[in-house]
Amino acid sequence: MIKPDAVKAGNIGNILQMINAAGFRIVAMKYLNISRQQAEKFYEVHAERPFYGELTQFMSSGPIVAAILEKDNAVADFRKLIGATNPAQAEEGTIRKKYAASVGENAVHGSDSDENAAIEGNFFFSGLERF
Ligand code: CMP
Repeated sequence: MIKPDAVKAGNIGNILQMINAAGFRIVAMKYLNISRQQAEKFYEVHAERPFYGELTQFMSSGPIVAAILEKDNAVADFRKLIGATNPAQAEEGTIRKKYAASVGENAVHGSDSDENAAIEGNFFFSGLERF
């Protein structure tokens, strides 16, 4: 996902360009708003965390871009490309280092396992929307 902060800042194109340059294939993509309830569902694994309210409010505060990306070793390579959750700790050249402002508003989300990538892909896309 490209999160509301990066969409608002006009960085969709820059981020997609980095994703493309890193060798990912975009197999599905959409621009949409999610409701508070949908954000709560997407991040339900974090329901007990102190930042859950802030996170779900933020994720429903404006449009996002959701995409399914394909590549060998995609989960690990995408996490490398986006950098640490907290942009202050992200390496130079990563998406979060370049475009994120804080741990809460950190520009992008990437799945943390193949299993979660499948779950998260199914959250946003039907079978008809993939190719
Ligand atoms: P993401 O990769 O989308 O997965 C969970 C999100 O929770 C994470 O990125 C951060 O944006 C957010 N998050 C993690 N820790 C904190 C925190 N301490 N305060 C606010 N948000 C956080």
